[in-house]
Amino acid sequence: KPIFVLNGPNLNLLGLRQPEIYGAETLADVAARCAALADDLGLGIDFRQSNHEGALVEMIHEARDAASAIVINPAAYTHTSVAILDALHAFEGPVIEVHISNVHKRESFRHHSYVSLRADGVIAGCGTDGYLLALRRVATLLAKGG
Ligand code: DQA
Repeated sequence: KPIFVLNGPNLNLLGLRQPEIYGAETLADVAARCAALADDLGLGIDFRQSNHEGALVEMIHEARDAASAIVINPAAYTHTSVAILDALHAFEGPVIEVHISNVHKRESFRHHSYVSLRADGVIAGCGTDGYLLALRRVATLLAKGG
């Protein structure tokens, strides 16, 4: 089963949006780098983005049957969404939370993450490389049997 790599609101504007914080790379660039690494690791990925909380909840429900693990950058929903947290609690495989920026160096409202209550690992402040680090961690966890 593939790894779902899920991206929340405004990440479709990656590369255009606050490049001083999030960098110049687009989400399509990130998806391509993830696909190349997944290939090397012998894993499949399904890379998606939505600006809608309910759509992300439904992707996580779909993952229950269709994914071996979830890498998720919930973007602003990180700090607000009990619904995404609850959906992740209903998923049994590894979950790694990714933030491009170091949320702890930013406004205090970004310091709290609902998703971290479920995540097996959290990567923040490593730029878009964080997605690749997350995939490597998932490969390790899956090799250990989840
Ligand atoms: C983000 C950090 C969030 O606080 C913010 O709302 C985002 C992106 C990150 O990747 O650094 O949209 O998740």
